[in-house]
Amino acid sequence: MYHNIVLIGMMGSGKSSIGRCLSEHHPLIFTDTDTLIAQKTGSSIPDFFSQNGEVAFRKIESEICETLPNYKGYIIATGGGIVLSKPNRQTLKKSGWVVYLHASTAQILARLAHDQSRPLLNTPDKEARIQDLLTQRESLYRRTAHVVVDITASPTEIAKMIWHKYQATCQEL
Ligand code: S3P
Repeated sequence: MYHNIVLIGMMGSGKSSIGRCLSEHHPLIFTDTDTLIAQKTGSSIPDFFSQNGEVAFRKIESEICETLPNYKGYIIATGGGIVLSKPNRQTLKKSGWVVYLHASTAQILARLAHDQSRPLLNTPDKEARIQDLLTQRESLYRRTAHVVVDITASPTEIAKMIWHKYQATCQEL
C-alpha cells in the first residue's frame, strides 16, 4: 500500500488542479512542494529565484523533497524540476505512488502563454524553452513514475482516472 500519491511533470501539466480535485473527492490531503518552499523561505518562488538564483532554489527543493517520505495520506504536487536530481528521484519513489502527468509542448504553451509566475519561462521564446526543458526531463519523469497519464481530459476526469488506477494498483499489492 502506498501512503501518498505524488504528481510529477512539467509546469502547466495540471499537477495542482488535478491534485486538488483528488483531495476534494478522496481522503487525501493536498500539498505541493512549491508551497512548502515558499513557507520555508518566506518568499514567493519568483522572488526567491530572482534574489538567490536557480542553484539555491534547487537546494531548498531537495531539502523539502527529503521530508516527503514522512507524509502519510497526502496527494503531493511537485515542482517541474524536482526530478533533475537523482537523490530527489529516489526519494520521490519512496514517498508514494508516482504519477507522471504527460503534456506536450503545445499543451504547456497554451496553458502558460500568459503566465508570469514561472521564472524559467521568462524568456522571449517560451515555446523553445519548454521544448528544451521537456527534452531534458522527459526520460527523468518516465524513469521516476510508477504510471504515466496523458493530459487529454479535464482535471476532474483525469483525477477520476488516476484514482481508479491507484485503487487497482493498491489491490494488486
Ligand atoms: C519549475 C517549476 C515550478 C517551480 C519553479 C521551477 C521547473 O513548479 O518549482 O518555477 O523547474 O519546472 P510548477 O511545475 O508547479 O510550475
